[in-house]
Amino acid sequence: MAAMGEMIENIAHQWRQPLSAISTSATGMKLENDYNLLDSNKLTTGLDNIIDNTTYLSNTIEDFRKYFVKDKVRTKCNIKIVYQNTIKLLKSKFDSLNIEIIEDCEDIYCTTLENELVQCLMNIFNNAHDVLVKNGRSKKLIFVKIYKKYDNVIISVTDNAGGISEEIIQKVFEPYFTTKHKAQGTGIGLYMTQEIVVKHLDGFIKVKNVNLNYESVKYTGANFKISLPLNRE
Ligand SMILES: Nc1ncnc2c1ncn2[C@@H]1O[C@H](COP(=O)(O)OP(=O)(O)OP(=O)(O)O)[C@@H](O)[C@H]1O
Ligand SMILES: [Mg+2]
Repeated sequence: MAAMGEMIENIAHQWRQPLSAISTSATGMKLENDYNLLDSNKLTTGLDNIIDNTTYLSNTIEDFRKYFVKDKVRTKCNIKIVYQNTIKLLKSKFDSLNIEIIEDCEDIYCTTLENELVQCLMNIFNNAHDVLVKNGRSKKLIFVKIYKKYDNVIISVTDNAGGISEEIIQKVFEPYFTTKHKAQGTGIGLYMTQEIVVKHLDGFIKVKNVNLNYESVKYTGANFKISLPLNRE
């Protein structure tokens, strides 16, 4: 249910802008028609705009639906592409807040449950989003690194929102642990993420606070690292 809630919230974000574009187009054409100003050029442009936007709406719903279905079999996938597909689902939400993503990702193939990994990454990115909003810093950054270490692929996600206080950092994976208001969080996101990573993907997840330096400015933030085995049977 928690995952469904997040998903719906993300869809709402993706849909707001195209819905408003459709409404503007239709209202504009209706008004022009009332005043006999709607020539066939304007009609075609307006209708094309509506068609483009409805196609986009229908594609987003497909994207979300695809990732909400549980995988049955492991498939060989490029982890970088899996990450990029996740970000695609969050794009409007991130763009509207000027969240900048700094990528350093290698193409690494791994046999895994793609949709479940997308769910995990979504939880981590949504948490970074929430804390960047709350923190209100004008420069909102998320660093994503994907690389190989021994026989594992590491997906590292770091934000610049100040980190997690040392008193609670060990509790973030516990079920129902949240510092958010009831309406904003249930505290199940990271619990679910850890369950999926450990029990379904045979990996592990770690969190720590890090100091970083970007464009000569120093920041602190939370760093989540997912490690998945490359050569599982
Ligand atoms: N990037 C982060 N920076 C700072 N604190 C974080 C970060 N990610 C998680 N946390 C802390 O960990 C808590 C637990 O996160 P979790 O995702 O499990 O639950 P939630 O986000 O509060 O609610 P839900 O994900 O169920 O909507 C958060 O409430 C927040 O206090
Ligand atoms: Mg969360």
